[in-house]
Amino acid sequence: MLGKFSLILALLVAATSAYPSTYDNALIGYSDAVEMFLQAWQKIIPCGYAAGNLPVLAPLTVDFQAFNYSNGNTNLVGNVSNIRISGLNNFQILSGGYNDSTNRAHFDVIFPQLQILGAYELEGNLSVGGLPLPIRQNVLINKKLIDWRFVGEYTFAQSANNSNGLQISDFDLKYFVAGVKVDNWDKYLDVAANNFVNNFIESFSLLFAEEIQPYVNTLFATYSLPAINDLLSGLSLTELTDFFVMQAELWNMADCQVKA
Ligand SMILES: *[C@@H]1O[C@H](CO)[C@@H](O)[C@H](O)[C@H]1NC(C)=O
Ligand SMILES: *[C@@H]1O[C@H](CO)[C@@H](O)[C@H](O)[C@H]1NC(C)=O
Ligand SMILES: *[C@@H]1O[C@H](CO)[C@@H](O)[C@H](O)[C@H]1NC(C)=O
Ligand SMILES: *[C@@H]1O[C@H](CO)[C@@H](O)[C@H](O)[C@H]1NC(C)=O
Ligand SMILES: *[C@@H]1O[C@H](CO)[C@@H](O)[C@H](O)[C@H]1NC(C)=O
Repeated sequence: MLGKFSLILALLVAATSAYPSTYDNALIGYSDAVEMFLQAWQKIIPCGYAAGNLPVLAPLTVDFQAFNYSNGNTNLVGNVSNIRISGLNNFQILSGGYNDSTNRAHFDVIFPQLQILGAYELEGNLSVGGLPLPIRQNVLINKKLIDWRFVGEYTFAQSANNSNGLQISDFDLKYFVAGVKVDNWDKYLDVAANNFVNNFIESFSLLFAEEIQPYVNTLFATYSLPAINDLLSGLSLTELTDFFVMQAELWNMADCQVKA
């Protein structure tokens, strides 16, 4: 979840659609392969890659999506529309590497700016201390995330289930957000109330990013790592390296010329 657009995604994409290796990439190390993969991915993001079920992610758009959420006294009905998220392809790899003798990899990736535009409407009741609080919003979304950075390390160990396979151990992820700029407009609120809500979201988002830091690794280990390790258990380091190289070559061959 939190590392969605970091190397983790790269790993997931890799492992879910592994191709058989037809030639020898023995001269390319794991770290170089990951870098080739990420650079090729960055180029293909504005085009998507239909053959690999990779949607266009820059911009990432959602025309309309209705939702209906119900949990205890909370009942919310609504929809999001005209969502446009841009900047997912503009990440920079600040550093990355892999040590063959310790099997430890590290990465440092930053998204300098993500912009989220769109709208949502919702109405219903929000449960506050067991009491239903009626809520009604009709909001134009205008939000920016500045310098969203992921710094992490992990070690490759032998898979628990397959002696030829891999698993990730000692995963350590930190993420940072330098700034959140919110300029939403709720048509049911006046200017002062809108400003108040926007300031609240800005401060709360930054606080949340800080407060959640100690739990990131636990959340990741609980929700993401089992699935990743399951996929990795069928791959050796050589196979994983080959996969990254081959996938990079396929994407480079697609020759995406679209500028996001
Ligand atoms: C939302 O879901 C609840 C429970 O599934 C259902 O009773 C209700 O009719 C739904 N409302 C809308 C607007 O779809
Ligand atoms: C959702 O979208 C439709 C427009 O298709 C709108 O009429 C409806 O009122 C919206 N809002 C909610 C809360 O469902
Ligand atoms: C790999 O790790 C070992 C043990 O910590 C260290 O001695 C070595 O210098 C590292 N190699 C590189 C290339 O960083
Ligand atoms: C919210 O609660 C009020 C009062 O209990 C009720 O009349 C209304 O139907 C509820 N709305 C939703 C969407 O559940
Ligand atoms: C190992 O196999 C068990 C049982 O099939 C499974 O629950 C577990 O997730 C697997 N672990 C890994 C790391 O693949």
